[in-house]
Amino acid sequence: MLSARAARLKESATIKVSGAAKRMIAEGVDVINLSMGEPDYNTPEHIKQAAHAAIDANHTHYTINRGIPALREAVCRRLKADFNVDYTADQVIVSSGAKQSLFNIIMALVDEGDEVLLPYPAWPTHPEAIGIAGGKVVPLYTDEKSHFKITPRQLEEAITPQSRMLLFSNPVNPTGMAYNDSEVAALVDVLKKHHLYILSDEIYARLCYDGLAYRSMASFPEIYDRVILVQGVSKAYAMTGWRIGFSCGPAAIMKAADKIQGHSTSNASSIAQYAALAAVDGPQDALDDMLATYAKRRTYIMQRFAAMPGVHYVEPQGAFYLFPNINGVLTDTVDTSEKLALYLLEEAHVAVVPGIGFGAEGFLRISYAASMEQLEEACDRIEKALNKLRKA
Ligand SMILES: Cc1ncc(COP(=O)(O)O)c(C=O)c1O
Repeated sequence: MLSARAARLKESATIKVSGAAKRMIAEGVDVINLSMGEPDYNTPEHIKQAAHAAIDANHTHYTINRGIPALREAVCRRLKADFNVDYTADQVIVSSGAKQSLFNIIMALVDEGDEVLLPYPAWPTHPEAIGIAGGKVVPLYTDEKSHFKITPRQLEEAITPQSRMLLFSNPVNPTGMAYNDSEVAALVDVLKKHHLYILSDEIYARLCYDGLAYRSMASFPEIYDRVILVQGVSKAYAMTGWRIGFSCGPAAIMKAADKIQGHSTSNASSIAQYAALAAVDGPQDALDDMLATYAKRRTYIMQRFAAMPGVHYVEPQGAFYLFPNINGVLTDTVDTSEKLALYLLEEAHVAVVPGIGFGAEGFLRISYAASMEQLEEACDRIEKALNKLRKA
């Protein structure tokens, strides 16, 4: 009954576990949810005020399909200030979340059978979006040895005449890895020799730790005319529900993406666009405070997991995820990441995501975008449950 396209789609593993967790919460179980990829903060006050003001000023009509000029101009200023990236407002499309930005660009550039290189472990929407467009995912597997980062050599060897695009993310969901400036530059040295597009999902770009020297793919003149940069306000400004993301790239590609959006959803919410304008253009201190707090939580959760027998991890440098290897705690009955996630949900009442959902068996994704109190309690519970599993 379904189209082949719909039949191919997999349910997001993150949604599956959090769905089970939500059902338990609805039944009154005290579940600590570390499975979601969203800040636990509320949207900062000045951003909410801007949305109220937008309603009062009757900014409640359709806007220009690609987004209000003031927001697109503010995005350009912010990208210049934060990442030294040069865009003009006509190169920016505001969408209903970075998810829609990614879809627009993939639909604009990927034809049936085109190869899209995708580093793994991968955020599930990336391969599914490529699949919806009819593209063929070419996985670039990474592991702990390479700190879950693709190498220039691996990239070079994977590129074929059919390669249409590299879908790159930095920092990476689910591993929390972040490529520094010289690691990105080494990949660019390969990319500049081959004609393929680079869709660069940099939604977590402002969430990097330990002074990581971040460099955007869009800041390299050698490949600038083939890079499409995707960012948004969801993660950095605690605005997941407002659904505002944006893509920036060569005008001809953006024009096609504009048409695709025009025939699917039209403009992103007018009110949310004004809120995003206040976020991007307004004071950044709330973001700095949130980042400092994530950094403390990251240190805490790393210490706790380092002390758990059978568990080890590569230190994450970005986003808000720990991606521990849990092979050492699996048993004859609890023998997969999915069964372990389920065990932790039932036994410890803590929701985490199995690595298999990102194409990486033997790992869990644990979000530390939760209060310190919740993290302490969650780590206590996980530790206890794992001890029990070991003794069973
Ligand atoms: C890597 C990555 N890209 C994009 C998104 C989507 O962000 P948005 O809320 O702006 O659609 C997410 C959200 O989880 C993500 O993890």
